[in-house]
Amino acid sequence: MGTPDGATVDRYLASALLEDDPVLEAAIAASDEAGLPPIAVSPLQGRLLGLLARAMGARRVLEVGTLGGYSAICLARGLAQGGRLVTAELEPHHAEVARVNLARAGLADRVEVRVGPANETLRALAREGAEPFDLVFIDADKSGYPEYFELALGLVRVGSVIVADNVVRDGEVADADSADEAVRGVRRFLERVGGEPRVEATAIQTVGVKGYDGFAVVVVVA
Ligand code: SAH
Ligand code: DHB
Ligand code: MG
Repeated sequence: MGTPDGATVDRYLASALLEDDPVLEAAIAASDEAGLPPIAVSPLQGRLLGLLARAMGARRVLEVGTLGGYSAICLARGLAQGGRLVTAELEPHHAEVARVNLARAGLADRVEVRVGPANETLRALAREGAEPFDLVFIDADKSGYPEYFELALGLVRVGSVIVADNVVRDGEVADADSADEAVRGVRRFLERVGGEPRVEATAIQTVGVKGYDGFAVVVVVA
């Protein structure tokens, strides 16, 4: 046998580290059944989101891009006692599937799915004077990342963490001439983050069941 590939290793790591999870499996099955695209985070990435929330003692988490609620379940499981997750989703159908999945997971009482363009939802949260979020997960339309980052900065505190998914996209992110709006959005996001004195950031490439991609981790330091 040659060297196992990234997806094979992902499955091995998941089998070693993650327990059987009928709730997450049901969320994926229901999302597939409802015709949602199969683009939720991987089981191992989902675990990382939950671990981050738990390690931070997060009481308030914000997600941008709900889809069927898979990553929302992972994040909400990591919330401290009494904590809450707000998740923003453009598509009413996705939000409906997510609400069912979150209810099945027993998390409906601590998760609010807000339907509408995420930039409007984030502006509304700011207007409402929402308490700062401890952790933000950005995972909606990639062309919107620069704006979501800008708005997220107004909704956090020193010490908050912002994670952004899909910042590598098969390596296309390194192509300065890419005409792909998603790639261009991610590049503008990364360059904006890199130039922002209030934050310190990194990005890590990943390979696994979701292919070759990566995520950025941003910490608000001032
Ligand atoms: N975080 C999810 C996956 C999100 S996929 C998970 O890992 O389980 C991206 C989602 O962003 C899709 O559901 C899509 O409908 C939503 N989206 C796209 N544009 C959006 C916008 N402008 N505002 C809010 N959500 C948007
Ligand atoms: C896409 C979006 C995602 O959030 C993801 O994790 C993978 C793919 C997409 O829009 O293609
Ligand atoms: Mg994603």
